[in-house]
Amino acid sequence: MSFPFPVLSPEEAAELIGHGSTIGFSGFTPAGAAKSIPVALAKKAEREHAAGRPFTVGVLTGASTGPSLDGALAKANAIRFRTPYQSDPTLRKQINSGQVHFLDMHLSMLPQQVRYGFLGKVHWAVLEACEVTPGGGIVLSTSVGVSNTYANRAEKVLIELNRRHPPQLLGMHDIFEPADPPARNEIPIYNVHDRIGSPVLVIDPKKIAGVVFTDADDEATPFAPATPTTEQIGQNVADFLVAEMRAGRIPKSFLPLQSGVGDIANAVLGALGTHPEVPDFEMYTEVLQDSVMDLLESGRCRFASTCALTLSPEKNAQFRGNLDFFRSRILMRPQEITNHPEIVRRLGIISMNTAIEMDLGGNVNSTHVMGKTMMNGIGGSGDFTRNAYVSIFSCPSTQKGGKISTIVPLASHIDHNEHSVQIVATEYGVADLRGKDPHQRAELIIDKCAHPDFREQLRGYMRLLHTDTHEPLSLTGAFAMHRQFLETGDMRGVDWNAWKARR
Ligand code: COA
Repeated sequence: MSFPFPVLSPEEAAELIGHGSTIGFSGFTPAGAAKSIPVALAKKAEREHAAGRPFTVGVLTGASTGPSLDGALAKANAIRFRTPYQSDPTLRKQINSGQVHFLDMHLSMLPQQVRYGFLGKVHWAVLEACEVTPGGGIVLSTSVGVSNTYANRAEKVLIELNRRHPPQLLGMHDIFEPADPPARNEIPIYNVHDRIGSPVLVIDPKKIAGVVFTDADDEATPFAPATPTTEQIGQNVADFLVAEMRAGRIPKSFLPLQSGVGDIANAVLGALGTHPEVPDFEMYTEVLQDSVMDLLESGRCRFASTCALTLSPEKNAQFRGNLDFFRSRILMRPQEITNHPEIVRRLGIISMNTAIEMDLGGNVNSTHVMGKTMMNGIGGSGDFTRNAYVSIFSCPSTQKGGKISTIVPLASHIDHNEHSVQIVATEYGVADLRGKDPHQRAELIIDKCAHPDFREQLRGYMRLLHTDTHEPLSLTGAFAMHRQFLETGDMRGVDWNAWKARR
């Protein structure tokens, strides 16, 4: 096809982007992330730095990306500020050392904050596509993220036309952008499979500064094999949901599922898929991982609405080989829609996310190790948790060879508070916090979820407290386990007598 816009090399495209620009990249996880222009931009940054000139850019995406985007730009010291989520080791170090300004944001809120102008000008949108029409019609690839908003807001757009993604992805996207207040109406999704937007992102062709041809797989990595711990967590969550269904608190037809990222999320879905009493279900989620492709093929998952297809290269090949089948069972939408509180509440979504630590009051830390070190970001976990029909958090009861308890007196950073978190689960069991006061919640979490090595220790903390308070909290002792870990490398064996006088 001949285009009315220039066909550029990645280097020519990178040359157009100046120091200080803010760039909205496609990519929600490595799925659909721009790949060749960011690598060329990183090389340009290195050249500029070698010549003694400054070169950094602001990087907006859908969520995390792959080594060719966050990885390459971070290694080249080319990122000035970054939002909303990341998982790259180099970038993580730069964020934690203060080199990169990182705004940790609820993913559903980023597009409207961009439209409202809260984040300043977006100079460039760099979007991966599987097809571009001469009239400015763009068929996105394996994610939507914030691409539609970036394309609309950016002054100029560059397209990476990735031939690895078949143009037959046409029909799998549902692009819809709500109007801004005071003109906003409801988002008319009443069922998971309701299609409300356009399969194609249409922009003014005059804004397209060029098209770069690429041919590269998404950079998603395969999952670690399930461990006995992740399998047991998955089983516990599945058993809990079945018990809820038996008790009539979840309809027999089940409710749509949202599942977080990572190995535990994968294990939970695996356990739900094989549980004989869980009926065939639908997903309204932000990421589809490998396990869902099998669930869709087997019919266990009837339909999945998502923002991204985060598939290992093997699963991507399986997906491409059976595209017609998947086209009628998957819709990819902007994160503003997949994570929208209105839809999450309306559809009655069961949210299942992973924690770094959970405290005795039912607060959850998803983001900061020891309260200070950023891991990835809150991602969409808050969008779903705050509005879910049932909100579930799980994690292994310990980390670092048993030296860290993930159940702590007070979370060292709080992303999801006691008002939104309903169920917490570890490999030892499930604590149902609904309808419980703070003291009852604490007892339940210790009995059902804490590792046996830490149960007595956590009870020791409870004995330290005044009983005539609403919250079970010792202002001085709440972080004693964290402080001991930082001093000795082990949370075990805290001597509460040392804290007694200072409760
Ligand atoms: N203290 C210290 N380190 C901890 C810890 C704790 N309480 N909890 C986890 N860690 C460390 C692990 O030891 C591991 O370290 P390693 O990389 O050196 O092995 C690392 O953190 C990752 O932990 P892991 O158990 O492998 O978790 P994961 O890959 O399942 O990720 C989260 C867990 C919480 C980091 C991840 O789910 C996340 O970023 N969540 C927030 C966003 C989100 O929920 N998105 C989905 C919404 S739809």
